[in-house]
Amino acid sequence: MTVLLEAEGLTKTFGSFKAVTSMSFAIQESHCVALLGPNGAGKTTTIRMLAGLLAPTNGRIGFQGVREGGSHCERIGYLPQSPSFYNWMTGYEYTVYAGRLCGLATSEAKAAATKLLERVGLANAAGKKIGSYSGGMKQRLGLAQALIHRPKLLIMDEPVSALDPVGRRDVLSLLRELKQETTVLFSTHVLHDAEALCDDVIIIREGQIALQGGIAAIQDENRKPVIELTVDSDAHSQAWLAGMKARMRREGEASTSSPDSLAALIKHIEISANHARLQVSEVHAARQMLLEELASEKIGLLDMKVGHSSLEDLFMKVVSE
Ligand SMILES: Nc1ncnc2c1ncn2[C@@H]1O[C@H](COP(=O)(O)OP(=O)(O)OP(=O)(O)O)[C@@H](O)[C@H]1O
Ligand SMILES: [Mg+2]
Repeated sequence: MTVLLEAEGLTKTFGSFKAVTSMSFAIQESHCVALLGPNGAGKTTTIRMLAGLLAPTNGRIGFQGVREGGSHCERIGYLPQSPSFYNWMTGYEYTVYAGRLCGLATSEAKAAATKLLERVGLANAAGKKIGSYSGGMKQRLGLAQALIHRPKLLIMDEPVSALDPVGRRDVLSLLRELKQETTVLFSTHVLHDAEALCDDVIIIREGQIALQGGIAAIQDENRKPVIELTVDSDAHSQAWLAGMKARMRREGEASTSSPDSLAALIKHIEISANHARLQVSEVHAARQMLLEELASEKIGLLDMKVGHSSLEDLFMKVVSE
């Protein structure tokens, strides 16, 4: 594996506010990497630093083939969170203009624009004014603009967040193709988009990396058995569910193992009304004890499912802790 970009101790403060604190990560060549985090986590700030638009307060960014202190900006294609276009230009004129700004000769820019507009599915709309484009078309135009100088790394800030479902689907499928051709880093607050496209994920929260690594490895490492339980919605049953949380807490606080071994098997519990989701350490024993208790407490069981936690659970846990 070859490292294309490496960030070390990347930090950005605005006044006394730390938007990004000491982030270190590497982007491997040909990988697709998602920078995943909730609103305000520091995604745009990080991306703007990587794209060379914002000077880090601290830390360094290294890029393959660029000497220390040199600029890697021309090797990056960047699509901002809310790109603004000149609506009076046509898609073709805008793409040529972007190519000229990147230093391409006019003939080169024209040839590249024609090819790229075709590539992003805008060949038929190339001669139309950008003002008439849909959100999805504008985003695809943004991609053509970002790729015009054949960058080594394509960086996109929430490329599908502002789109309707059709636009999302179109742009996601285009990204699926583009990631075969170039290294990609994009930010999102939607786990599903990261799972659908990426090899690696960097999960950030309050400006810090909460978790990073290959998606498949993270999924494997964090697969925990889960039992989902729906009981009758009468007061007795709901009180029993709520009581389980208290028992689990007591068990956690106890210094020695207590005789209440069901509570000891429960590692995490979420309850809403008559439904509970239990993360357990040992699924067979926990299921058995649950069934025994339901019978002895005379609680009606409406549904019980045994499965595994998903990356979604992990993401929610990481960002809400
Ligand atoms: N120029 C600035 N001055 C002061 N604070 C800023 C500035 N830019 C960003 N911030 C703050 O830094 C934090 C991170 O912002 P950032 O835009 O990087 O988050 P984000 O993860 O991209 O969020 P979103 O999902 O809403 O796009 C936020 O609390 C934001 O208010
Ligand atoms: Mg942002």
